[in-house]
Amino acid sequence: MRLILLGAPGAGKGTQANYIREKFGIPQISTGDMLRAAVKAGTPLGLEAKKIMDEGGLVRDDIIIGLVKERIAEPDCANGFLFDGFPRTIPQAEAMRDAGVNIDYVVEIDVPDMLIVDRMSGRRVHVASGRTYHVRFNPPKAEGVDDVTGEPLIQRDDDKEETVLKRLAVYHEQTEVLVGFYRKMAESGDASAPKYVKIDGTQSVDKVRDEVLAALGA
Ligand code: AP5
Ligand code: ZN
Repeated sequence: MRLILLGAPGAGKGTQANYIREKFGIPQISTGDMLRAAVKAGTPLGLEAKKIMDEGGLVRDDIIIGLVKERIAEPDCANGFLFDGFPRTIPQAEAMRDAGVNIDYVVEIDVPDMLIVDRMSGRRVHVASGRTYHVRFNPPKAEGVDDVTGEPLIQRDDDKEETVLKRLAVYHEQTEVLVGFYRKMAESGDASAPKYVKIDGTQSVDKVRDEVLAALGA
């Protein structure tokens, strides 16, 4: 199973990715998580990416495409993977298509902009595992700590309102066009084209999970 989770910042991609990877036993490939790891490690990529991410912009396509191509060549991706936050531009999507990376499903999680700032301001993350919570909508069992490890949760640097609004604008300018790109592929009748599924992401976390898994035949 190879799939893409598509949706605005804060739509719930990371939250749902956790359920999908558990269900199908495939790795989650989050370019955002990969970049945050590089920032934390202070690598040359991290130093370059930090400023762009803090401003809500996108890191250069050639860098991202290189990172992803390397990642999907690793042995744990042999039976499939889940892209979270990638592709996010037409050149990124074309690079995968041209490399012959066939995708089974594109799952769009649809959430209107007006709900996003609220979701981001309450988001808390366990960095090591990628588990994501919300102080009101999806709280951890004990305040401020991860359910599984008991380690502290953090807030992301790019979750302040001003950056979230910039990220939303960038989504509409550069990423939303992928909806049409993949819908067109899905409707082409080509046997290797992905199936396109759109889910109402304004529902509860559990309801979204149930609909996503049902659409994937799980
Ligand atoms: P990235 O990490 O990919 O961020 P994003 O796409 O902006 O998405 P988020 O992680 O903010 O949101 P999400 O959809 O995962 O939502 P979540 O599940 O956490 O990218 C960060 C940056 O890296 C980019 O800005 C860019 O600079 C760079 N970058 C990354 N990939 C790149 C690429 N391919 N090309 C170029 N640059 C790239 O949920 C959000 C909150 O809502 C949580 O608190 C959660 O608990 C809550 N929530 C989730 N679902 C629900 C629900 N159904 N109801 C209520 N609350 C919910
Ligand atoms: Zn995410």
